[in-house]
Amino acid sequence: MKRIGMLTSGGDCQSLNATMRGVAKALYNIYQDEVEIVGFEDGYKGLIYADYRLMKPQDFSGILTRGGTILGTSRQPFKLMRTPDENGLDKVEAMKHTYRKLKLDCLVVLGGNGSQKTANLLREEGLNIVSLPKTIDNDLWGTDMTFGFQSAVNIATNAIDCIHTTAASHGRVFIVEIMGHKVGWLTLHAGMAGGADIILLPEIPYDIDVVVEAVKARQKTGKRFSIIAVAEGAISKEDAKLTKKELKEKKKTGIVYPSVAYEIGAQITERTGQEVRVTVPGHMQRGGEPCPYDRVLSSRLGAAAARLIEKGEYGYMVAVKDNDLTKVPLEEVAGKLKMVDPQCAMIAEAKAMGICFGD
Ligand code: F6P
Repeated sequence: MKRIGMLTSGGDCQSLNATMRGVAKALYNIYQDEVEIVGFEDGYKGLIYADYRLMKPQDFSGILTRGGTILGTSRQPFKLMRTPDENGLDKVEAMKHTYRKLKLDCLVVLGGNGSQKTANLLREEGLNIVSLPKTIDNDLWGTDMTFGFQSAVNIATNAIDCIHTTAASHGRVFIVEIMGHKVGWLTLHAGMAGGADIILLPEIPYDIDVVVEAVKARQKTGKRFSIIAVAEGAISKEDAKLTKKELKEKKKTGIVYPSVAYEIGAQITERTGQEVRVTVPGHMQRGGEPCPYDRVLSSRLGAAAARLIEKGEYGYMVAVKDNDLTKVPLEEVAGKLKMVDPQCAMIAEAKAMGICFGD
């Protein structure tokens, strides 16, 4: 009898259930009745505190199109994994204990950056791990694509599309703030798909003068409105030069804006006289059902994870490379971010169309 543990960790996304279904269906197909899947509640928390349930094949039925995660999730910061909990419990030892007590052959982790780091830590501690690349941010190193990303692109694009019609009616500047604190893949893709005039990413610090000029240039040519797609983590050239500590200090002084989009909005109004509105779709971007692309990707990734388990190949994240599935060693994935290269072809093409990146 094979015993496989499974957990979903970190921020959720639309395609977690579809991925777990892919893993489970493939495992049941390979092992028939000779496999048991143990689902841990709320991510690593369930593994730490032995909060789990034995899953049945029917648990994975009818969940292909269901967003969220049937196992629940939570954020368990990697940097605190070696810090005992409030009762002095050693979390890493506790996770190893649960794994061994349940006689697991492998733990399947569906997670983003932090979760992959913890997966690698557990690998170093001797557990058999297979991981899957989840995140709407598409910022996992080692894979061209993460599941959740395309569904989030659809929602963020839809938000920009809706804003487009109202922006055109009123002749205003609209700023849509898109998720992504450290990387701008989602903003770049949704911005282009939604026809944004200005796209601001964390990887390309913006010059507010350039942004204001781009808005004015549109005004001059008779355009009644401008749409700006701003990543949550967009940063001005000025602020990008500061250390984390200096930036924190700076933010304590002057006007405190709810987020970068509001700050940019205030600066545009002050300098162009144009009315600005800010829209923040926020966690809507992680909600709802997975798009068809993600359903296919999740199913493929899930089946590939089961295949690794069958072959006893542990310590890998299943990944996408040039449209094919591959495996990347966890030690290579852990701790690295896949960022937008400001010199990449997509940015050059967007610039060729006149999209302003604020640089
Ligand atoms: O990592 C996914 C993500 O949605 C980011 O884009 C966003 O910045 C962050 O999670 C939000 O986290 P939380 O759900 O904890 O507010």
